Amino acid sequence: MSPAAARTVLLLSGPNLNLLGEREPEVYGAATLEDHVATARMTAKRVGLELEAVQSNREGDLVEAIHGARGRCAAIVINPGALTHYAWSLHDALAAFEGPVVELHLSNPNAREPWRHTSVIAPVASGSIVGFGGLGYELAIEAVARLLDGEEVGARG
Ligand code: DQA
Repeated sequence: MSPAAARTVLLLSGPNLNLLGEREPEVYGAATLEDHVATARMTAKRVGLELEAVQSNREGDLVEAIHGARGRCAAIVINPGALTHYAWSLHDALAAFEGPVVELHLSNPNAREPWRHTSVIAPVASGSIVGFGGLGYELAIEAVARLLDGEEVGARG
């Protein structure tokens, strides 16, 4: 992996997250995805990382973005939206990614409807950050930086 790739983080956003700011603001807040990406980018800069951001409403696009990150990005932060709860293709793609993976949610899915309590992403993530709203983007990038710097890495079975 080139030195640039070793410091590049891919931030992936799934379906409906392009509507943040308008979509159920009482659940997801008033900030747009652009705002969250800007927060992640600023945090990345502060900790010496580069950020790439991809949003798609299509599962296959996200699978391909994960494939494209192999050997090219050091880590992935992913908010898969509703795909979290059933997209085994994302689970398998992430399992084939060699670096740290942070699962991120604005809301706390565990405190919501029962169908949101299952994550097929969690078993292939180094860890999950949920329920902190926009602060989660900052926390996720900081977690990635520390994992890449060799601090204790979560177990991935
Ligand atoms: C979400 C939680 C998911 O359950 C939901 O389908 C989303 C957003 C979050 O960030 O809180 O689209 O991933």
